[in-house]
Amino acid sequence: MEKLQWNDNLSVGVELIDSQHKKWIEYYNSAAGALHSMQGSARIASTLGFLIDYTEEHFATEEKHMQEHAYPGYEDHRAIHQELRRTLSGLVEDYEEDGVTNPLVDSIDTFLRNWLINHIIEIDMKFGAYLEEEGISLSE
Ligand SMILES: [Fe+2]
Repeated sequence: MEKLQWNDNLSVGVELIDSQHKKWIEYYNSAAGALHSMQGSARIASTLGFLIDYTEEHFATEEKHMQEHAYPGYEDHRAIHQELRRTLSGLVEDYEEDGVTNPLVDSIDTFLRNWLINHIIEIDMKFGAYLEEEGISLSE
């Protein structure tokens, strides 16, 4: 399994969001790593749990700032987050029901990583550009 790695092309130009994306990549890598090496189920469950919790924290941060700064793309962006929230909880349900299966590992490998990268490049960048245009900087 290839680990995801942060690079400057992923920067949305907002320190707070970039640092959360970096952290998300770390959590992603440990969840994917635990699944691939078929580590004990307690470890897999906890890495998936961290990934989900952190995703929620990160989305909540983005959504809070989009609302606070009257971002016109808020509704669309939030709808996209909702979709990923559903997908992630579906993955956890699959895991809880069937344990580690090939489709689960594939979803983590392809869907999640592509989702992350595309989301950052296409969707989060727009929000970053908006903040820059408006001269807004985020603190927390
Ligand atoms: Fe986002």
